[in-house]
Amino acid sequence: MTTTLITGANKGLGFETARRLVAAGHTVYVGSRDADRGRRAADRLGARLVILDVTDDASVAAAVKAIEADGGLDVLVNNAGIEGTVVPTAETTVDTLRPLFETNVFGMVRVTHAFLPLLLRSPAPVVVNVSSGLASKTLVSTPDTPTYAYPGLAYPASKAAVNMVTVQYAKAFPNMRINAVEPGYTATDLNGHRGTQTVEEGAEIIVRMAQIGPDGPTGGYFDVTGPLPW
Ligand SMILES: NC(=O)c1ccc[n+]([C@@H]2O[C@H](COP(=O)([O-])OP(=O)(O)OC[C@H]3O[C@@H](n4cnc5c(N)ncnc54)[C@H](OP(=O)(O)O)[C@@H]3O)[C@@H](O)[C@H]2O)c1
Repeated sequence: MTTTLITGANKGLGFETARRLVAAGHTVYVGSRDADRGRRAADRLGARLVILDVTDDASVAAAVKAIEADGGLDVLVNNAGIEGTVVPTAETTVDTLRPLFETNVFGMVRVTHAFLPLLLRSPAPVVVNVSSGLASKTLVSTPDTPTYAYPGLAYPASKAAVNMVTVQYAKAFPNMRINAVEPGYTATDLNGHRGTQTVEEGAEIIVRMAQIGPDGPTGGYFDVTGPLPW
């Protein structure tokens, strides 16, 4: 059994992933930037709470200290993410991109970098980066698909960066299993619950990749059906 931290686990896919991993017998830290929302989620789940805002160095450093003091970390699920209002590409500016990159990309690197010393002490470290189908240049360029029709620039660009971050970390740390996953279009607050899948369906690939062993894949990009085109 492992000790797992899930960022942004107070609701949505992160919460459901935490529920499944607790049920499987793992020790789970619910990462939440808000103490009250996090406490409510952790209490419902029978999980531990760690306050963690992925955009804040001090918050991440405090989370590392707390988890280190409690015994360390085996699995990091970089789930926290935002989409914001979808701005059409023609109207997108740097200011549109900035908050998405701050959370989805810089936040992921901040958290991963900060937890590396703890992960490197684990006998079987695993990182799961929650990406998106919109990160795939192949899928976004395939006409007559919902992915092709997505009108915005910022979110797909941030998730494409997540995929590259995943590949480069995987090469740098061959003893870790580090993969990107696409949950599929899932009804959560992120999309005003327009997603067509349930959180149970969406969390499946996250849960699966969080539990892979040392012989599992690394540097890959997967949905529930298998590897995805980059
Ligand atoms: N839903 C989909 O269809 C879909 C599809 C593909 C990929 N994804 C990805 O799946 C992940 C989870 O999304 P979701 O659909 O479950 O959305 P959600 O229900 O909106 O949950 C997002 C979580 O991220 C947290 N978060 C946002 N900014 C944060 C920050 N700065 N620090 C810490 N936590 C932060 C939120 O916390 P607060 O409650 O405090 O805001 C919340 O717990 C995201 O990375 C998203 O891009 C979702």
